[in-house]
Amino acid sequence: MNAMDIEIRKLHPAIGAEVRGLDLTRPLPEATRQAVHQAWMDNLILVFPDQDITDEQQIAFSRGFGDLEVHHQKIIRSTRAPEIFRVANVDDDGKMMRPGNPVVEQLAQARRWHTDSSFREVPSMGSVLRGVEVSRTGGQTCFINMYAVLDALPPALRNQVEGRRARHDFGYLHAFAKLKPLSAEERAAMPPVWQPMVRRHPVTGRKSLYISPIYNDQVEGMSESDATAFIEELATFAEQDRFVYRHRWETNDMVIWDNRCTMHLVTPHDPEERRIMHRTTIAGEEAVVAA
Ligand code: SIN
Repeated sequence: MNAMDIEIRKLHPAIGAEVRGLDLTRPLPEATRQAVHQAWMDNLILVFPDQDITDEQQIAFSRGFGDLEVHHQKIIRSTRAPEIFRVANVDDDGKMMRPGNPVVEQLAQARRWHTDSSFREVPSMGSVLRGVEVSRTGGQTCFINMYAVLDALPPALRNQVEGRRARHDFGYLHAFAKLKPLSAEERAAMPPVWQPMVRRHPVTGRKSLYISPIYNDQVEGMSESDATAFIEELATFAEQDRFVYRHRWETNDMVIWDNRCTMHLVTPHDPEERRIMHRTTIAGEEAVVAA
């Protein structure tokens, strides 16, 4: 296997490509890893079909791009490997969890647009999600190209985001649902942070709109109600089909996305249907740079 064996096929004009010809059960040679990284930077999200791999192999692949985050809430982490963030309605022992269960309610918040870990001082670089048991009734993951969104913003909106910051608070999830209350320790570990609304990508140098509506409770210089309406207006503009790739999962698909220049959400599915996805979250290397 070498970099020349990779086949790349675009999935949407604005975002996403499928990559074939790789066996991710084995470490990638450096030239191949670099080719994958370049394809990732060019396409923002990559889909690797037919990767029947273990959690350890997923962790090793993800570490090829950076250190991994360990989620601050125990209820979300796998009991077997702390780097695995379980996006699942079945617990680690195989028991189905239904609406009302705190994990299910928290994961349901991902049905609104967000970018992972934007509530951290140094937010995540990217995430890797693997379909262990996929949904047939929904559970599709949609991704937005936020470079393209910024470029296309009408001047009135563009003027309002330039030079401005939005607040990102993990605790804001609690405004939308009855979730397991955060412990004092969890709360202290994740104080709200202010992030620029227009950021510069540390690798590509490109500018993108940086919002994460499930966490954005305030915008500089706006009342709380104006801030909510403004974030909603930006999200509505961003979710136009021309900016969005919708991924219909097959078992053993693995997808990597760039949290610095995309947003994503998952569509609802029948709560009686099992869905098990394993995520690794690649830590960012520096604080967000305003552009
Ligand atoms: C996530 O928001 O990280 C998970 C998306 C999904 O469940 O498809």
